[in-house]
Formats: sequence, structure tokens, C-alpha cells
Amino acid sequence: MTDVEVTPEERPRFEIDPWERIWLTISVLVLSVFAAALIISTVGFGFDLPGVSGRVDPTTVTDEGPFATPGLVETGDGTYVAYMVARQYAFDPGLLTVPQGAEVTFRITSIDVQHGFKVAGTNVNMMVLPGQISELTATFDDLGEFPFVCSEFCSIGHAQMAGSLSVVPPEEFEP
Ligand code: CUA
Repeated sequence: MTDVEVTPEERPRFEIDPWERIWLTISVLVLSVFAAALIISTVGFGFDLPGVSGRVDPTTVTDEGPFATPGLVETGDGTYVAYMVARQYAFDPGLLTVPQGAEVTFRITSIDVQHGFKVAGTNVNMMVLPGQISELTATFDDLGEFPFVCSEFCSIGHAQMAGSLSVVPPEEFEP
């Protein structure tokens, strides 16, 4: 029997360069942070991707139907749909009033070019495209003014394209 003693120094070893080890560790950490942020934002905070709730003809969408008379429509107890039309350089309606606690689903379309719709202080921030109805829902539990702006550059008047949503006590709300 041959008994060969192998000392630890003689064993074949899988070497990782210290710098490579550092970068591997950083990469795994960064990916873990991104994955955690994604999970926390979707599960914990209800972040949602803007949905496409329909296709429309931008040349006729304001002739009839909900986009002919855009505005707030009550759909249930405390739930509303806000039909909105974006165009260069305004939102119609430019002013919205909802009662405190309202769950508002924004359905918005453009009749000319690509716009954006971002409501300050909420998760609502979506692209608004001609031919498409973009949809996101937000609940307004706090009283106050929530300005909304166009969040996609849409030419010279982009910076002026804005409006405001006010949240009032339910007893002051007039549909
Ligand atoms: Cu509309 Cu920018």
C-alpha cells in the first residue's frame, strides 16, 4: 500500500483572484438590491405598469363616447373613472375634483402626439399615445392639490402642459 501524504499546499486549488471575488460580490449584491426593490415596489407599494385598456381612433375618439365629454364618472362606491384627453398643450379636463378616499382610474388618450401624464404625489406616471387608452389607478386618501403635468416632451409648449386635481372632504364634493 502506497500511502502518499498530500499536504494542503499540494492540493489542487480553485483560485479566484481577490479583485474578481470583490467584483463578483458587488455584482451579486447589486442584482439582489434590484430584485428586492422590484419585489418591494410591486408587492409592498402597489407599483403597477400602465396598462393599455383599449385602442381608439385618435381622429374620431372625441366625437362620441366617454372621450367626447371627458371628466370624472362615478363607477361605484368611492370609485371613479377619469376620462381625459391630452393634446398640444393641455389636458381636458385641466381641473379635476375628487372626494377624499376616492379610487380614481385614469383613462387617458392623446389626439395628436405622444404625451405623458404624471400626477404629483402618486404612482400615476404613464405615456399617453394617440390611438391608445392608457390606464392607471390611484387612491387619494390625503386632502389637497395634486398637480399633474405632461411628462413626455411634446414640442414647444410642453412645459406649459399641466393641470391640477384637488381632493376635497366628501361632504364638499359635488359630482
Ligand atoms: Cu404634452 Cu409634453
